[in-house]
Amino acid sequence: MRLTANFFIAVSAALLLAGCKAGGEYQGLEYAPNMYHSVAYEPLTQITNKDAGWYFNALDARSGEFYNSNPYNPYRMNLRLPPKNTVRRNKQGWLPYRGTNDADGLVNAAKLISPLKDTTAAVIDQGKVLFEMYCKHCHGAKGEGNGKVAEGVKIDGVDHSAFAGVANLRGEAFKSITEGHIFHVITYGKGRMGAHGSQVSEEDRWKIARYVKELQKN
Ligand code: HEC
Repeated sequence: MRLTANFFIAVSAALLLAGCKAGGEYQGLEYAPNMYHSVAYEPLTQITNKDAGWYFNALDARSGEFYNSNPYNPYRMNLRLPPKNTVRRNKQGWLPYRGTNDADGLVNAAKLISPLKDTTAAVIDQGKVLFEMYCKHCHGAKGEGNGKVAEGVKIDGVDHSAFAGVANLRGEAFKSITEGHIFHVITYGKGRMGAHGSQVSEEDRWKIARYVKELQKN
């Protein structure tokens, strides 16, 4: 008799535990869900539907997501809009680069002075790492226009043809270009060279520009 009772208890416990399983569409039953799921304030929420996300909130309110947006700010956003006529600066306090992507922009860029105050070798070392990441495959380790992409490579027996016209940055034609000019070319690209502005931060572009000038020296 005791054996049967124990067996019965074991089976019921197993069934009970199995019944607790949540997954897929079924999230299980939770007691006081607000205690576990704090509702994160989303910076850009603009929720106007009162029923949105009701399951997040206390069962009586039934409007969790709606109250997660801010009725006092424009568009119910949790963020304030920046004041009019203000300009975003990056973490160094620099204004965004506003040189235009045209011939005049390049001429003006050539007159820019690098904002990098640090003149130590460390900056050049960082420029080297970045150059090797973003430029070497085309311009070559020394900037001579002989990277693997420029010359073409054979990988697993398949020829990848050369990317013609890569500039030799150590050539006479480029000796006099300024850091500003290089910065602008990295940002927007030029001729057959693509833009790198979206991949490389402003600070890193200036570091690369400094390294290119260094490469040209020796
Ligand atoms: C996909 C290959 C490729 C990559 C990657 C590349 N370049 Fe170029 N680069 C070129 C080509 C091609 C030219 C010649 C552009 C033209 O005149 O048509 C060029 C030209 C230049 C010039 C000369 C611009 C001028 O005034 O005529 C500079 C400076 C330069 N690249 C710097 C860089 C730097 C720095 C990087 C890395 C951030 C880089 N390039 C990455 C292909 C590349």
